[in-house]
Amino acid sequence: MRGERLDKLLARLGLGSRKEVARLVRAGRVRVAGEAVRDPGFHVPEGASLELDGKPLAVRRHHHLLLHKPAGYVTSRTEGPSVYALLSGFPTRDLAPVGRLDKDTEGLLLFTTDGELLHRLTHPRHKVAKRYLVHLERPATEEDQRAFAEGLSLDGERLLPAALSLGEDPTRVELVLREGRFHQVKRMFQARGNRVLYLKRLSLGPLELGDLSKGEARYLTPEEEETLYRAVGLGGQDAQGEL
Ligand code: URA
Repeated sequence: MRGERLDKLLARLGLGSRKEVARLVRAGRVRVAGEAVRDPGFHVPEGASLELDGKPLAVRRHHHLLLHKPAGYVTSRTEGPSVYALLSGFPTRDLAPVGRLDKDTEGLLLFTTDGELLHRLTHPRHKVAKRYLVHLERPATEEDQRAFAEGLSLDGERLLPAALSLGEDPTRVELVLREGRFHQVKRMFQARGNRVLYLKRLSLGPLELGDLSKGEARYLTPEEEETLYRAVGLGGQDAQGEL
Protein backbone atom coordinates (compact mmCIF):
# COMPACT_ATOMS: atom_id res chain seq x y z
CA MET A 1 0.00 0.00 0.00
CA ARG A 2 1.22 3.51 -0.82
CA GLY A 3 1.89 5.52 2.32
CA GLU A 4 0.76 9.07 3.09
CA ARG A 5 2.43 12.06 1.39
CA LEU A 6 5.23 13.50 3.51
CA ASP A 7 3.87 17.08 3.51
CA LYS A 8 0.36 15.86 4.46
CA LEU A 9 1.75 13.71 7.24
CA LEU A 10 3.91 16.49 8.70
CA ALA A 11 1.02 18.97 8.59
CA ARG A 12 -1.20 16.43 10.29
CA LEU A 13 1.41 16.08 13.04
CA GLY A 14 0.93 19.79 13.73
CA LEU A 15 4.26 21.02 12.33
CA GLY A 16 2.64 23.74 10.23
CA SER A 17 0.60 24.27 7.08
CA ARG A 18 1.29 22.19 3.95
CA LYS A 19 3.33 25.14 2.59
CA GLU A 20 5.35 25.56 5.78
CA VAL A 21 6.20 21.88 6.10
CA ALA A 22 7.12 21.69 2.40
CA ARG A 23 9.74 24.36 3.14
CA LEU A 24 11.18 22.24 5.97
CA VAL A 25 11.38 19.26 3.64
CA ARG A 26 13.01 21.18 0.76
CA ALA A 27 15.60 22.54 3.22
CA GLY A 28 16.64 18.94 3.92
CA ARG A 29 15.60 19.07 7.57
CA VAL A 30 13.43 15.95 7.42
CA ARG A 31 14.61 12.33 7.36
CA VAL A 32 12.42 9.36 6.56
CA ALA A 33 13.72 6.00 7.80
CA GLY A 34 17.09 7.66 8.38
CA GLU A 35 17.39 9.17 4.85
CA ALA A 36 17.06 12.89 4.06
CA VAL A 37 14.05 13.41 1.78
CA ARG A 38 13.66 16.73 -0.07
CA ASP A 39 10.47 15.95 -1.96
CA PRO A 40 7.29 17.06 -0.09
CA GLY A 41 5.29 14.64 -2.29
CA PHE A 42 7.32 11.63 -1.19
CA HIS A 43 5.08 8.77 -0.04
CA VAL A 44 6.13 7.66 3.44
CA PRO A 45 6.04 3.88 3.84
CA GLU A 46 3.87 2.73 6.74
CA GLY A 47 5.84 2.37 9.95
CA ALA A 48 8.82 4.44 8.68
CA SER A 49 10.52 6.59 11.33
CA LEU A 50 10.57 10.38 10.86
CA GLU A 51 13.09 12.93 12.10
CA LEU A 52 13.15 16.71 12.07
CA ASP A 53 16.57 18.31 12.57
CA GLY A 54 17.83 14.95 13.81
CA LYS A 55 15.09 14.56 16.45
CA PRO A 56 12.55 11.74 16.18
CA LEU A 57 8.92 12.71 15.54
CA ALA A 58 6.14 10.66 17.12
CA VAL A 59 4.00 9.48 14.21
CA ARG A 60 0.40 9.37 15.33
CA ARG A 61 -2.33 7.25 13.94
CA HIS A 62 -5.13 9.74 14.47
CA HIS A 63 -5.72 13.32 13.49
CA HIS A 64 -8.10 16.00 14.67
CA LEU A 65 -9.30 19.16 12.96
CA LEU A 66 -10.82 22.22 14.47
CA LEU A 67 -13.24 24.12 12.21
CA HIS A 68 -14.80 27.55 12.69
CA LYS A 69 -18.19 26.59 11.31
CA PRO A 70 -20.11 29.40 9.64
CA ALA A 71 -23.91 29.47 9.63
CA GLY A 72 -25.52 27.78 6.62
CA TYR A 73 -23.62 24.47 6.75
CA VAL A 74 -25.02 21.14 7.90
CA THR A 75 -23.05 18.83 10.24
CA SER A 76 -23.47 15.85 7.92
CA ARG A 77 -21.56 14.14 5.14
CA THR A 78 -24.63 13.50 3.04
CA GLU A 79 -26.82 16.59 3.46
CA GLY A 80 -25.69 19.86 1.98
CA PRO A 81 -24.21 22.33 2.13
CA SER A 82 -21.99 20.02 4.16
CA VAL A 83 -19.36 21.12 6.68
CA TYR A 84 -17.03 18.69 4.88
CA ALA A 85 -17.00 21.11 1.93
CA LEU A 86 -15.03 23.44 4.23
CA LEU A 87 -12.34 20.81 4.81
CA SER A 88 -10.97 20.61 1.28
CA GLY A 89 -7.20 20.23 1.42
CA PHE A 90 -7.44 17.98 4.48
CA PRO A 91 -7.72 14.20 4.42
CA THR A 92 -11.30 13.55 5.56
CA ARG A 93 -11.44 9.78 5.42
CA ASP A 94 -12.61 8.37 8.79
CA LEU A 95 -12.97 11.93 10.07
CA ALA A 96 -16.14 12.33 12.14
CA PRO A 97 -17.60 15.40 13.83
CA VAL A 98 -17.61 15.47 17.63
CA GLY A 99 -21.30 16.19 18.16
CA ARG A 100 -23.28 18.45 15.86
CA LEU A 101 -23.93 22.12 15.47
CA ASP A 102 -27.25 23.19 13.96
CA LYS A 103 -27.22 24.66 10.45
CA ASP A 104 -27.61 28.19 11.81
CA THR A 105 -25.06 27.75 14.65
CA GLU A 106 -21.50 29.00 14.27
CA GLY A 107 -18.26 28.27 16.04
CA LEU A 108 -16.02 25.47 17.17
CA LEU A 109 -16.62 22.11 15.55
CA LEU A 110 -14.04 19.40 16.19
CA PHE A 111 -13.47 16.44 13.87
CA THR A 112 -11.49 13.36 14.77
CA THR A 113 -10.52 9.98 13.35
CA ASP A 114 -10.32 8.55 16.89
CA GLY A 115 -13.58 6.78 17.79
CA GLU A 116 -12.69 6.38 21.46
CA LEU A 117 -11.88 10.08 21.81
CA LEU A 118 -15.16 10.96 20.07
CA HIS A 119 -17.11 8.69 22.38
CA ARG A 120 -15.56 10.18 25.49
CA LEU A 121 -16.04 13.77 24.35
CA THR A 122 -19.72 13.22 23.63
CA HIS A 123 -20.75 10.84 26.44
CA PRO A 124 -22.43 12.74 29.30
CA ARG A 125 -20.46 10.65 31.82
CA HIS A 126 -17.32 12.65 31.01
CA LYS A 127 -19.14 15.98 31.45
CA VAL A 128 -16.97 17.81 28.91
CA ALA A 129 -17.73 21.54 29.08
CA LYS A 130 -19.06 23.32 25.99
CA ARG A 131 -19.24 27.11 26.17
CA TYR A 132 -21.67 29.03 23.96
CA LEU A 133 -22.23 32.68 23.19
CA VAL A 134 -25.99 33.21 22.99
CA HIS A 135 -27.89 36.24 21.69
CA LEU A 136 -31.45 36.31 22.98
CA GLU A 137 -34.71 37.96 22.02
CA ARG A 138 -35.29 39.09 25.62
CA PRO A 139 -32.86 39.63 28.53
CA ALA A 140 -31.91 36.52 30.50
CA THR A 141 -32.56 36.75 34.23
CA GLU A 142 -31.13 35.53 37.51
CA GLU A 143 -34.11 33.16 37.67
CA ASP A 144 -32.97 31.58 34.39
CA GLN A 145 -29.52 31.32 35.92
CA ARG A 146 -30.88 29.51 38.99
CA ALA A 147 -33.12 27.21 36.93
CA PHE A 148 -30.21 26.20 34.65
CA ALA A 149 -27.87 25.70 37.64
CA GLU A 150 -30.40 23.38 39.31
CA GLY A 151 -30.83 21.31 36.16
CA LEU A 152 -33.80 22.10 33.95
CA SER A 153 -36.36 19.44 33.03
CA LEU A 154 -36.86 19.19 29.25
CA ASP A 155 -39.56 16.88 27.91
CA GLY A 156 -39.53 14.95 31.18
CA GLU A 157 -35.74 14.54 31.20
CA ARG A 158 -33.56 16.16 33.83
CA LEU A 159 -30.60 18.08 32.37
CA LEU A 160 -27.20 18.37 34.03
CA PRO A 161 -26.60 21.71 35.78
CA ALA A 162 -25.58 24.42 33.30
CA ALA A 163 -23.76 27.69 34.09
CA LEU A 164 -25.29 30.86 32.70
CA SER A 165 -23.16 34.03 32.86
CA LEU A 166 -25.02 37.31 32.69
CA GLY A 167 -22.72 40.07 31.54
CA GLU A 168 -23.49 43.76 31.09
CA ASP A 169 -25.98 43.01 28.35
CA PRO A 170 -28.31 40.17 29.45
CA THR A 171 -29.42 39.61 25.85
CA ARG A 172 -25.82 38.48 25.09
CA VAL A 173 -24.91 35.75 27.52
CA GLU A 174 -22.59 32.78 27.84
CA LEU A 175 -23.80 29.32 28.72
CA VAL A 176 -21.68 26.31 29.68
CA LEU A 177 -23.22 22.86 29.12
CA ARG A 178 -21.75 19.51 30.11
CA GLU A 179 -23.82 17.40 27.72
CA GLY A 180 -25.06 17.85 24.17
CA ARG A 181 -28.69 17.06 23.54
CA PHE A 182 -30.57 17.89 20.35
CA HIS A 183 -31.04 21.69 20.01
CA GLN A 184 -30.25 21.89 23.70
CA VAL A 185 -29.41 25.59 24.07
CA LYS A 186 -32.39 26.68 21.98
CA ARG A 187 -34.75 24.37 23.86
CA MET A 188 -33.46 25.49 27.26
CA PHE A 189 -34.18 29.13 26.52
CA GLN A 190 -37.47 28.24 24.87
CA ALA A 191 -38.47 26.45 28.09
CA ARG A 192 -37.82 29.76 29.90
CA GLY A 193 -40.07 31.67 27.46
CA ASN A 194 -37.17 33.18 25.53
CA ARG A 195 -35.74 32.69 22.02
CA VAL A 196 -32.20 32.23 20.73
CA LEU A 197 -31.40 34.61 17.87
CA TYR A 198 -27.74 33.71 17.42
CA LEU A 199 -25.61 30.87 18.72
CA LYS A 200 -21.87 30.32 18.60
CA ARG A 201 -19.78 27.64 20.31
CA LEU A 202 -16.65 29.18 21.80
CA SER A 203 -15.00 26.17 23.41
CA LEU A 204 -15.07 22.42 23.83
CA GLY A 205 -13.27 21.06 26.89
CA PRO A 206 -9.79 22.62 26.83
CA LEU A 207 -10.09 23.69 23.15
CA GLU A 208 -10.85 27.33 22.37
CA LEU A 209 -12.05 28.70 19.03
CA GLY A 210 -9.65 31.64 19.50
CA ASP A 211 -9.03 33.78 16.42
CA LEU A 212 -9.54 31.05 13.81
CA SER A 213 -11.36 32.78 10.93
CA LYS A 214 -14.89 31.80 10.03
CA GLY A 215 -14.86 28.93 7.50
CA GLU A 216 -11.24 28.01 8.30
CA ALA A 217 -10.00 24.69 9.68
CA ARG A 218 -6.68 23.71 11.24
CA TYR A 219 -5.06 20.71 12.89
CA LEU A 220 -4.81 20.73 16.64
CA THR A 221 -1.36 21.60 17.93
CA PRO A 222 0.46 18.75 19.72
CA GLU A 223 -0.15 20.61 23.02
CA GLU A 224 -3.91 20.92 22.39
CA GLU A 225 -4.06 17.26 21.45
CA GLU A 226 -2.29 16.22 24.61
CA THR A 227 -4.53 18.33 26.87
CA LEU A 228 -7.61 17.04 25.08
CA TYR A 229 -6.67 13.39 25.57
CA ARG A 230 -5.84 14.07 29.22
CA ALA A 231 -9.17 15.86 29.75
CA VAL A 232 -11.05 12.66 28.90
CA GLY A 233 -8.70 10.32 30.76
CA LEU A 234 -6.85 9.01 27.72
CA GLY A 235 -3.45 10.18 28.97
CA GLY A 236 -1.87 11.91 25.97
CA GLN A 237 -0.68 10.77 22.59
CA ASP A 238 0.99 7.62 23.90
CA ALA A 239 -2.46 6.11 24.33
CA GLN A 240 -2.99 6.34 20.56
CA GLY A 241 -0.10 4.06 19.71
CA GLU A 242 2.30 4.37 16.79
CA LEU A 243 1.52 3.83 13.14
N1 URA B 1 -27.58 23.82 21.14
C1 URA B 1 -28.39 24.16 20.11
O1 URA B 1 -29.55 24.44 20.29
N2 URA B 1 -27.86 24.14 18.87
C2 URA B 1 -26.57 23.87 18.61
O2 URA B 1 -26.14 23.92 17.46
C3 URA B 1 -25.74 23.53 19.70
C4 URA B 1 -26.28 23.50 20.96
